[in-house]
Amino acid sequence: MKNFKNKEELSAHIGVLKANGSTIGFVPTMGALHQGHLSLVNSGLLENDLVVVSIFVNPTQFDNKEDLVKYPRTLEADMSLLSTVNSDRIIVYAPSADDIYGDHIASETFTFEGLEHEMEGAFRKGHFDGVGTIVKRLLEIVAPHRAYFGEKDFQQLQIIRKLVELHHIPVEIIGCPIHRAADGLAMSSRNARLSLDHRIAAPFIYETLKAAKVKFGTKSATTVTEWVNSQFKNQPLLELEYFIIADIATLKPVKRKSTKKSYRAFIATYAGDIRLIDNIALN
Ligand code: PAF
Repeated sequence: MKNFKNKEELSAHIGVLKANGSTIGFVPTMGALHQGHLSLVNSGLLENDLVVVSIFVNPTQFDNKEDLVKYPRTLEADMSLLSTVNSDRIIVYAPSADDIYGDHIASETFTFEGLEHEMEGAFRKGHFDGVGTIVKRLLEIVAPHRAYFGEKDFQQLQIIRKLVELHHIPVEIIGCPIHRAADGLAMSSRNARLSLDHRIAAPFIYETLKAAKVKFGTKSATTVTEWVNSQFKNQPLLELEYFIIADIATLKPVKRKSTKKSYRAFIATYAGDIRLIDNIALN
């Protein structure tokens, strides 16, 4: 498994591979890798000759300094997990902040046709400017044929599709299904920081999403939203930040259901000081 820390060396290496006809998949990550990441890597390996995995905890996308400080950094464990996959076809890029940002760690400002103002954008100020900045830079450095993102961060996925469209970046963006633990909790690097009690309580999030999906078949979005809010009132270990049923194209909350549109339910909760998000397709 080749491992790069320097963007010029990585780009030069990828340039040679592409000149020799190899196709390149890309899985950007912030490390603390788990089976969800491996499923993205495996999708990349099925469709490309080589897969670049970046491991970089991007400071500009954290609105909460404490979350950035406490974000798990487990490079050695990440490398050994990746080496269990098809490691001669994986290239790791684990840069320092300096390699990405030089001496000016700051976001560019983006607009994504309003997608950035909904849900995570409303609750995490500046988050999508940080995500846009790092993903655009990484796509320029790696210049892959295809890039893989999990649907757990569905709003991020839609925003990256918009980023690529608006900035004419020649890459195919591929959304991959949410990978879940056996009890339904969506895989996330933050799960490792849950206390035992919070970890036991957390599958309630997906159970509620599944029940909301059933209710949405016959009830209005408002009724379903009120029901979800009432369910969380009985859950002392999980504090609901938002539950929103939104049109997947605009990410705006549903006012009146239409059979012509596709909807998802999105949820953000706190389990202690750990923020967990999840979502489910409704139709
Ligand atoms: O989804 C993530 O892990 C991050 O937002 C990403 C896409 C790697 C950018 O830092």
